[in-house]
Amino acid sequence: MTEQRLDGHLNEEYILQVEDLWVSYQAERGTVKAVCGVSFNLRAGETLAFIGESGCGKTTLGLTFIRLLPATARVERGRIWYSRGTEAVDVLAMHEQELRHFRWRECAMIFQGAQNAFNPVLRIWDQVLDTARAHGETDKKKIRQRMEELFQLVQLEPRRVLRAYPHQLSGGMRQRVLIALGLLLNPSLVILDEPTTALDILTQRSVIDVLRGLKERLQFSLILISHDLSLAAELADRVATMYAGKIVELASVWDIYYRPHHPYTVGLIRAVPTLSGDRGRLISIPGSPPDLINPPTGCPFHPRCPYTTERCQEEEPPLQAVSPTHHVACWHWEKVIAEGGERMLTKAEA
Ligand SMILES: Nc1ncnc2c1ncn2[C@@H]1O[C@H](COP(=O)(O)OP(=O)(O)O)[C@@H](O)[C@H]1O
Ligand SMILES: [Mg+2]
Repeated sequence: MTEQRLDGHLNEEYILQVEDLWVSYQAERGTVKAVCGVSFNLRAGETLAFIGESGCGKTTLGLTFIRLLPATARVERGRIWYSRGTEAVDVLAMHEQELRHFRWRECAMIFQGAQNAFNPVLRIWDQVLDTARAHGETDKKKIRQRMEELFQLVQLEPRRVLRAYPHQLSGGMRQRVLIALGLLLNPSLVILDEPTTALDILTQRSVIDVLRGLKERLQFSLILISHDLSLAAELADRVATMYAGKIVELASVWDIYYRPHHPYTVGLIRAVPTLSGDRGRLISIPGSPPDLINPPTGCPFHPRCPYTTERCQEEEPPLQAVSPTHHVACWHWEKVIAEGGERMLTKAEA
């Protein structure tokens, strides 16, 4: 990417600057290359969505930012600069004590599927207290006050919900409790992993509305992880399409949605029913996601791509700026826009 490389890495415009990040897992079958050279900047207050099929490295990326990778994972290379206003710190170089402060006070992650991870025998209020204590906050009155504020914002009735046991709440309510819990210590950076997956469509709608309201009120920066482009389209300022551990396209929501340059992004858009319910063009992307132990040579998408040429099999396209705000990693992006991604559609329908 062209927009970075700043002396001393302090740029107050950015809360996060990620440079050439590589993360792998040691598995029995070999080394899983889960994140492969990811670079981007996140502006303060911005929402950036990472989208892509399951297994492309989205959760790994989030866990790396908050330094909660499992022991089998290794950060091979890269820098993650977090800006605290007057200084920029490398998250990957933080020691345990610094990390304890960083996590939840500066950066919170709301995990994929965690609505099912509540302790079934504890009331919500006790789980709130446990979480707060685990992060060094012991003033009960202060916690209660903040939680009541946050519950109002996520449209939960504080008194009723704090007294409830997890099974007394619906999936959507539990997800909203988790979102409120993530915001308890007022972090400036929030990572939300698949916040609406496993919720029915109406509940998804209410969680989206709640998130939009929260962002307007609290102004945190948000990394939104989703396999669902329609969620990204509703909440994000910019979207990064991920494939095989790499960002293959990065642009504003509008550009991603109306002028996608990467055939894979075209496929993702077509794979989502539109909100108007027009399912006429609904397709699925043919083929399956690559094996990250032995990823394809050249462009990782080439085995599934109708635009593939010999060059794609041999040479990996770099993520390049085709305009100041639009980056794409594809040798044939010009053809893709000229045709409106048509080949992606015909290949899928064939
Ligand atoms: N703990 C782990 N050990 C080994 N491989 C893992 C582990 N967690 C994830 N992976 C692999 O890393 C890749 C990226 O996974 P993940 O980050 O969960 O993707 P996503 O969130 O986009 O679905 C996948 O190939 C997945 O199988
Ligand atoms: Mg995931």
